[in-house]
Amino acid sequence: MAEPRIFVTWPMELEPEARAILERAGPVETSPSEDELPETELARRVAGVEALVPTGAHRVPESVIAAAPRLRVIAVAAVGYNLVDVAAATRRGIPVTNTPGVLTETTADMAWALMLAVARRLGEGERFVRAGRWRGVTWSLLLGRDVHGATLGIIGLGRIGKAVARRAQGFRMRVLYHNRRPDPEASALGAEYRSKEDLLREADFVVVTLPLTPETRGLIGEAELRRMKPTAHLINIARGPIVDEGALVRALREGRIAGAGLDVFENEPAMHPGLLELEQVVLAPHIGSASRATRLAMATRAAENCVAALAGTRPPNLVNPDAWRGA
Ligand code: GLV
Repeated sequence: MAEPRIFVTWPMELEPEARAILERAGPVETSPSEDELPETELARRVAGVEALVPTGAHRVPESVIAAAPRLRVIAVAAVGYNLVDVAAATRRGIPVTNTPGVLTETTADMAWALMLAVARRLGEGERFVRAGRWRGVTWSLLLGRDVHGATLGIIGLGRIGKAVARRAQGFRMRVLYHNRRPDPEASALGAEYRSKEDLLREADFVVVTLPLTPETRGLIGEAELRRMKPTAHLINIARGPIVDEGALVRALREGRIAGAGLDVFENEPAMHPGLLELEQVVLAPHIGSASRATRLAMATRAAENCVAALAGTRPPNLVNPDAWRGA
């Protein structure tokens, strides 16, 4: 039997170790650039392949899956796999995998980078210095708010949410969280359960760390933002569509909340133009998991999932068990 062909949607130049794992299973073709291929081009590339390894930012719609009749696995190199039509893959018995765990700490670091940046007005400070406007230390220049000792509200106490909560202990913060159900591990992290409404009312920093699903889409909208304190900040390191961007811009413009730190947007790479005009918002280009070490770990984990599935072994990070028939 011919070796299975594998298509990777980015060049993999920085992860030769991960590429080598894939090459042990079969020939690897990569996309020439990191940019998303047009849907028709991706469909053409996958026509004869057994495995597809996309980044989390590359769409895999049903049309692409349908164009790949030999496809036996879609191994996403990300924890979030919302751009893959998992239902379509499952209908065809194609396992889909993701890379949880390996990016938890790096992404939790990003929540803190944004939290500290918005609280201490680093974006504004950077622009101020680079514009040549700094004339020396002044008493009331760019006064921010303290992160230490503040109340942190985590919406979604999963792996990443827990890593955020652990860091909060060092900042002596009071930690609240909201999940669909209380988590038995939360008390060891010093995190107290709250309804979503109470968390929004009490928190100084609301951090969103949830997967994007039909249930979480639009979870933070006009009503939720109205519950937050005028001094509170919203941090989103999860997925843009969980927050209603238009409602967020209105809340910020009207001073109903103090600021926001955003790594993700509703329609990336586009964003609500209002966000660009607001000084109290720190904007990052979806780089939550973007450290060198973590990118390598993500690529390696995706490769391991991919070769496991090709070998007929249940992959460690299967997200659609209904599609798994095994060897
Ligand atoms: C990044 O956004 C990921 O889902 O891994």
